[in-house]
Amino acid sequence: MELGLKGKVAIVSGGSRGIGFAIARELAAEGVNLALGARSGPDLETAAEEIRRETGVQVLPVGADLSTLSGVQTFVAAAVELFGKVDILINSAGAIRGGSLLTKPDSDWQEDWDLKLFGYIRMMKEVFPIMREAGGGRIVNIIGNAGRRPDPSYIVGGGANAALMNITKALAVEGGPDNILVNGINPGPTRTARWDVMNQGLASEWGKSVPEVEKIRVRDNPLGRPCEPQEVAALAVFLASERASYLNGVLIDLDGGATRCI
Ligand SMILES: NC(=O)c1ccc[n+]([C@@H]2O[C@H](COP(=O)([O-])OP(=O)(O)OC[C@H]3O[C@@H](n4cnc5c(N)ncnc54)[C@H](OP(=O)(O)O)[C@@H]3O)[C@@H](O)[C@H]2O)c1
Repeated sequence: MELGLKGKVAIVSGGSRGIGFAIARELAAEGVNLALGARSGPDLETAAEEIRRETGVQVLPVGADLSTLSGVQTFVAAAVELFGKVDILINSAGAIRGGSLLTKPDSDWQEDWDLKLFGYIRMMKEVFPIMREAGGGRIVNIIGNAGRRPDPSYIVGGGANAALMNITKALAVEGGPDNILVNGINPGPTRTARWDVMNQGLASEWGKSVPEVEKIRVRDNPLGRPCEPQEVAALAVFLASERASYLNGVLIDLDGGATRCI
């Protein structure tokens, strides 16, 4: 299938590893030039170099703290300065920690929402006018099925994800007339560094081994396993492509059928 992505420019928040990196790599394989944003300079450089070597596209690594407005503005400005446009935004920088209402300190809510909730919102706010001016664009938000499955032990993440689903749909309505299509993907548990860290945390909280925790976390999943980052990437690339020209405001649960609702 010809996806019509060659020569486009994508900016990928959280592009140094995990889901963001997998999406960046797949976009690059389709000929998309990239700006990758994350905090760690060395990790970003390694990610960028790997993608350049594999695909030959241009990759701009931008070290920025995307939980701040200035970090977001620095990232977007650097991409525009080099490429002169932004066709695609992938929002994937997020690191929300588990915990319940009574155990989570106020600072955790603030810090975690500063990155995932406000970071995604600010990225969209920065690129919207650029895309509008250029006659359109694509935004893919990597959200998470915890937003549809309220869980008191992951209340900060569930709350942010529910808000992002609402905002994604609202912006799809606002962007549609300008051909800015905004969609969201709700992965279930996905095998990234986050998956390992969360399993280690749950293992000590529940007094179980990590393999036991892994089994519990996929027990209501019909496929019996976590999602792979490449599986999120395949869907994100399609949503960013010319072939997805009538998909707008959709929230796709990519969780092997674990979420049971209509
Ligand atoms: N993995 C899952 O099970 C899962 C399931 C559903 C939804 N999601 C969502 O998918 C997204 C990606 O998750 P992932 O599993 O790929 O995470 P990950 O492997 O931990 O990668 C997170 C990325 O975000 C960057 N990042 C973290 N804090 C940042 C900050 N303050 N400023 C800029 N960049 C920052 C990280 O780089 P630095 O640390 O160097 O900054 C890294 O590139 C998140 O929004 C997550 O909530 C994940």
